[in-house]
Amino acid sequence: MMPTTQSKLQNQPITVLVQTLSHDGRGITTINGITAFIEGALPNETVLCQITKKHRNYLEAKTLEVISAAPERTEPKCPHFGVCGGCSMQHIKAGSQIEFKQQSLLEQLQRFGKVSPKEILAPLTGSSWGYRRRARLGVKYVKKKERVFVGFREKMSNLLTDLKICLVLHPSIGERLTDLTLLIESLTQYEHIPQIEIAVGDNEAALVFRHMRELPAEDLDKLSAFGQKFQLSIYLQPNSPAPITKLWPKDSQELLTYALPEYQLNMQFHPLDFVQINGEINQHLINLALTLLAPEPTDTILDLFCGLGNFTLPLARYAKQVTGIEGAKEMVNRAQQNAALNQINNVDFHTANLMEPSDSFPWLQKKYDKILLDPPRTGAKEIIPYLAKLSAKRIVYVSCNPATLARDAGELVYKLGYTLKKAAVINMFPHTNHIEAIALFEK
Ligand SMILES: C[S@@+](CC[C@H](N)C(=O)[O-])C[C@H]1O[C@@H](n2cnc3c(N)ncnc32)[C@H](O)[C@@H]1O
Repeated sequence: MMPTTQSKLQNQPITVLVQTLSHDGRGITTINGITAFIEGALPNETVLCQITKKHRNYLEAKTLEVISAAPERTEPKCPHFGVCGGCSMQHIKAGSQIEFKQQSLLEQLQRFGKVSPKEILAPLTGSSWGYRRRARLGVKYVKKKERVFVGFREKMSNLLTDLKICLVLHPSIGERLTDLTLLIESLTQYEHIPQIEIAVGDNEAALVFRHMRELPAEDLDKLSAFGQKFQLSIYLQPNSPAPITKLWPKDSQELLTYALPEYQLNMQFHPLDFVQINGEINQHLINLALTLLAPEPTDTILDLFCGLGNFTLPLARYAKQVTGIEGAKEMVNRAQQNAALNQINNVDFHTANLMEPSDSFPWLQKKYDKILLDPPRTGAKEIIPYLAKLSAKRIVYVSCNPATLARDAGELVYKLGYTLKKAAVINMFPHTNHIEAIALFEK
């Protein structure tokens, strides 16, 4: 049985002084000697809170009232803040969010890698709203309410938020969520559409409707009419192996595009391809990666986890040869097409599973002057030991997970002999607790 004091704590609101912020944006304090994570509370604030869940070693709580607010606090702009799991930092001023993220990056580098950069570069920032060009929305028919919900998951829950608007999504879709909900409710197959993928290119926004049952002509007509009315391309994603097809407009091409004007590049992508979520920040990120890597006309460069060539092709404008490595065959094909489209010949691409590397990979038989790494959240632990014999004097690591960046940085520094020269936090995902970062290693 729980001690009485704790049972009481669960029911009664308590006033606490918040000490620090957790990596996911919750206030941290101790209550009766137990660490408590308080939703909606900021460091140095006095809040009235209620414990919502007791775990063996920690408590979870939610803020009922802010008694004395921190200077970093601001009014959240989105009506769904606090419910939707998409953004957890809208109650923090934009400048303070990025300061917090930088602090979190440095702490994690120290904690998981025992490293700290010689220089911390200014954070890369851009627009805070309407920035998101790729997302997956959940769709569910809720029988009890006799309604369709379209949205992201609620905080710490599997339920979908009933979103009316999303202020971080590109406005061509973020402002159309009510129309989208009504559209799905009007379909005969409204119970068999579990998700919608969103992809926004420079001149076109696309919705990819996943459907578990075949859609009759009447539903297809409604989807096409919706696309036409709101100038959105409509794709259908039936159960695989049936291919994804474009429903509307019929006569246009399947791929979207984004331009990288500073490199005279036009990149094509399929709506389900990986693209960096924030197009504006992506351009700043490429600029910074190139500044740090400093490609020269004699350089051979290895771009690991290259995707559709987002860094490979800009690098190729300045280097002798760039080799891009990627796990997904269709992304390698896209990278090759993008190279051809932009008449770039000094690149070669290879498909390889970098989580299961092998000495026999042909591209590991050469030396490289410089290496760029941009792995998924799990990081690049498996391939890092193989970098030892490549003799690169510079490595630029782009990361969407500071914990795995820190772990891998520790390997690069203590096992491979590199120095962590510089690091910066990149505000790729404003208002969310996701942290994107870049680091430069040199030998
Ligand atoms: C963060 S994305 C970066 C893509 C690209 N650099 C860009 O900026 O668009 C990570 C990439 O790693 C690829 N990837 C994931 N797992 C992989 C694996 N085991 N081996 C090789 N590539 C993998 C994904 O397909 C994706 O393209």
